[in-house]
Amino acid sequence: MKTNAVLENIKARRSVRAYTSEQIAREDLQVILEAATYAPNGMHLETWHFTAIRNADKLVELNDRIKGAFAKSDEPRIKERGQSQTYCCYYHAPTVVIVSNDPTQWWAAMDCACAIENLFLAARSLGIASCWVNQLGTTCDDPQVREYLTSLGVPEGHRVYGCVALGYADPQTLIKMKTVKAGTVTIID
Ligand SMILES: Cc1cc2nc3c(=O)[nH]c(=O)nc-3n(C[C@H](O)[C@H](O)[C@H](O)COP(=O)(O)O)c2cc1C
Repeated sequence: MKTNAVLENIKARRSVRAYTSEQIAREDLQVILEAATYAPNGMHLETWHFTAIRNADKLVELNDRIKGAFAKSDEPRIKERGQSQTYCCYYHAPTVVIVSNDPTQWWAAMDCACAIENLFLAARSLGIASCWVNQLGTTCDDPQVREYLTSLGVPEGHRVYGCVALGYADPQTLIKMKTVKAGTVTIID
């Protein structure tokens, strides 16, 4: 089968859930964010916004507000996360990018998913690990979470469609080999 650097990068990308405390360079973050802005998006309206947080205290505060929203849940598993002392939805990664969009565009989620894959692949190409972090998807409209998101610069009318944790993979934590399900592709000649 043919291969090249792009295909190898796609196949080598994995979700990383344990990070070292080393911060990624601002310059690398800018390259990764630029790649996100080149993603395809409906009618090229570019209604998305990327809010990158490199400040550890602000990330802790964000996690605390998400936990606060979880603590109000009727679902025991979610409530438990909200009450946990150790729960950290971004796995203590040093940088998190919040990807938001105007929910009145019906393709808003699709735009964000395209941008997020670009973030992952650009990061991987620079040796930076990543993971999708979904917890703001369900909590971004909680009043305390929303207030904080606004203070961070997330546009007020926006919904959060995903976040991206970025950092260097903890070398002590092994990532299981990836297998892909058979039978998910059909080619008709
Ligand atoms: C829409 C979406 C939401 C996800 N949410 C989370 C999440 O909240 N936390 C997490 O650790 N991984 C999350 N993931 C990562 C998946 O679990 C992961 O991509 C999948 O297990 C395949 O593993 P791989 O990324 O290493 O190939 C999410 C992935 C997608 C596409």
